Amino acid sequence: MAAPAAQAPKRAASEGGAAAPDQHGAGTEVRRAVKVLLFMAAIALPWLVLHRAVAPGAFLVRAGGAISPWRLTGNDVDLDSEDVRLERVLSAAAMANNTVILTTLNKAWSEPGSVVDVFLESFRIGESTRELLDHLVIVSLDMAAHARCKQIHRHCFALVTDGVDFSGQKNFMTDGYLKMMWRRIDFLRQVLEKGYSFIFTDTDIVWFRNPVPHFYPDGDFQIACDRFNGNPDDLGNYPNGGFTYVRSTMETIEFYKFWYAARENHPGMHDQDVLNFIKRDPFVTELGVRIKFLSTELFGGLCEPSRNMSRVCTMHANCCVGLSRKVSDLNAMLQDWRFFMSLPLKDKQTVSWSVPYNCSLQKLER
Ligand SMILES: *[C@@H]1O[C@H](CO)[C@@H](O)[C@H](O)[C@H]1NC(C)=O
Ligand SMILES: *[C@@H]1O[C@H](CO)[C@@H](O)[C@H](O)[C@H]1NC(C)=O
Ligand SMILES: *[C@@H]1O[C@H](CO)[C@@H](O)[C@H](O)[C@H]1NC(C)=O
Repeated sequence: MAAPAAQAPKRAASEGGAAAPDQHGAGTEVRRAVKVLLFMAAIALPWLVLHRAVAPGAFLVRAGGAISPWRLTGNDVDLDSEDVRLERVLSAAAMANNTVILTTLNKAWSEPGSVVDVFLESFRIGESTRELLDHLVIVSLDMAAHARCKQIHRHCFALVTDGVDFSGQKNFMTDGYLKMMWRRIDFLRQVLEKGYSFIFTDTDIVWFRNPVPHFYPDGDFQIACDRFNGNPDDLGNYPNGGFTYVRSTMETIEFYKFWYAARENHPGMHDQDVLNFIKRDPFVTELGVRIKFLSTELFGGLCEPSRNMSRVCTMHANCCVGLSRKVSDLNAMLQDWRFFMSLPLKDKQTVSWSVPYNCSLQKLER
């Protein structure tokens, strides 16, 4: 993930603004009236909202911080607890063996013509990938992404993080970017604890074939690579957390807890770098979680494109900085794929990727 200019957290409504100090004589009257109103609001709002008597978006005053800003402004986010909503979405989307496909989305990537549109289009033009859309849950990190999701997809889940606004474009490794990455790790642990296995995919990965038949039968935690050295068991591979397949087991749940907790020992680092630290940790070895690295031949990217279009499952716009470059190369991948599919069998071996193209201008990671 990467994009320009992080934004400062934004509040949906400023609390207590109405009761600000007032130098004028009429102030006492006004203050009293405001106090009464705020008191009523604090009692009445949660009750009304709880009983669904009023649409949550109807209020502009935040009542005592008891209701998250999302719920106040978000007409479309329903009011059940996160746990109930999550269970409902996961069970509706699950495929055989309680497995779901998950991606996380924020405003910048959800805009029309941006990353999410290319992502969904790839499923429609891939080989037997269209039906996988029934099992894809788009996890939105802000209101705008959630609203867009509901327009274009069946399974949407709004992941609320109090006090953090993930809607802006996130520069790789800014504070907002890191928070977003770590929230994702914690969320995935939650999914595993609910008994669901998952294929997590960044939205800047295009899908052309079903990856499921290509996962290792003996891997609990399988992860794609920026660079793959040919040995799926070698911890020296360079993993990329943008694509993982994780089975829900006691070991993987503990592994995710350990991973998330390890961020505190490595401040300022993102999940992927911390993974590189903990993958050799004695705790992880003892835990016995079976880690496997996926080949870039099947799960390729701009760092190391898959070399055989007759076998490729996914392609990641990694090793690419800048949203417009990313979108441009992702679109080029769709074009390459369409061309490949249009060729007669005998000519299919003759073509390969035209990417990295715009992304080749910068050789930075992700
Ligand atoms: C189904 O999921 C369980 C629990 O994650 C796992 O142990 C098992 O290997 C899975 N079966 C298949 C066929 O993938
Ligand atoms: C690409 O994959 C196809 C299908 O598995 C195979 O027949 C072909 O030999 C491969 N081509 C190369 C160059 O490895
Ligand atoms: C991609 O590269 C082409 C040719 O260099 C250029 O015209 C185009 O504007 C670039 N697009 C983006 C999004 O950078």
